[in-house]
Amino acid sequence: MTEYIHVSVLAEEVVDLLITEKNGTYVDATLGMGGHTARLLAALPPEGKVLGIDWDPEMAGVAAAKLKPFGDRVKIAQGNFANIDEIMAREGISSLSGALFDLGISSLHLDKPSRGFSLKHDGPLDMRINPDNPLTAYTIINQWPFEQIEHLIRVCGERHSRRIARAILEARRVKPLDTTAELSALIERVAPARGEKIHPATKTFLALRVAVNYEFDNLTRGIQKVLPLLKPGARIGIITFHSLEDRIVKETFRIMAKMGGWELVTRKPVKPSDEEIAGNKRARSAKLRVIEKL
Ligand SMILES: C[S@@+](CC[C@H](N)C(=O)[O-])C[C@H]1O[C@@H](n2cnc3c(N)ncnc32)[C@H](O)[C@@H]1O
Repeated sequence: MTEYIHVSVLAEEVVDLLITEKNGTYVDATLGMGGHTARLLAALPPEGKVLGIDWDPEMAGVAAAKLKPFGDRVKIAQGNFANIDEIMAREGISSLSGALFDLGISSLHLDKPSRGFSLKHDGPLDMRINPDNPLTAYTIINQWPFEQIEHLIRVCGERHSRRIARAILEARRVKPLDTTAELSALIERVAPARGEKIHPATKTFLALRVAVNYEFDNLTRGIQKVLPLLKPGARIGIITFHSLEDRIVKETFRIMAKMGGWELVTRKPVKPSDEEIAGNKRARSAKLRVIEKL
């Protein structure tokens, strides 16, 4: 059986900046394989608890097995953090001492070809974090009109959006595009790399993932829903991995601080050290922002 590994990003910084109440209950809204949750629980006394949420039922199962040694100090819930209020009500938790969001997908998602997230491994054009989600990357690629595909990949930073969208429409007239390898080969053909460090299909793949999982909408809703659930003194920490989601967090936190009742803990985002990046390439684009309820 394959053992999947996910190295938690900025783990020390999360523990240092998020914990303000030793005996509190915290939410890890993006549980993944439970790395940050384990670090938080290890830093808290036995009274300290964590509610871990993941939208992906498979991930919630993996984390449950990994976090067993913490017994009833950890509760695990499967669900979308955009519904954090309902999840907490279901779990009988009324207030929080802190909330962590470590956005995006886990290494397990990337390493498992059948989930269709990876540029490296061939798999179906899926990309759903929660397999019950009705929308897949296949639907976008094979059914969305040119304008919608072009707009989606352009706003995610792809400068060859027209060329790529046109090639997708031409290809699917002959036969549907079924796999990640077919899509990435097509993009490589029409927009080959010219000295860039990233693969030519990276931005299109990111755009598809964001759209399939309503990632920006979930982020905005997740932040709004968690605010009233936090105690005074509690903090929200959010780790982002690309500029579009970082912009949402930066702007939301700026408005919260301006409106009053909230104070920025990090004026500039916290970034991983060179040492952390050397040990975990995935960390290189991470940014952590933290805000505190007054
Ligand atoms: C970067 S990983 C988290 C890794 C985790 N912090 C760790 O240390 O193992 C992000 C996780 O968030 C989950 N996720 C993404 N969007 C979500 C959402 N809207 N609600 C709940 N979980 C979500 C993904 O399934 C993935 O497992």
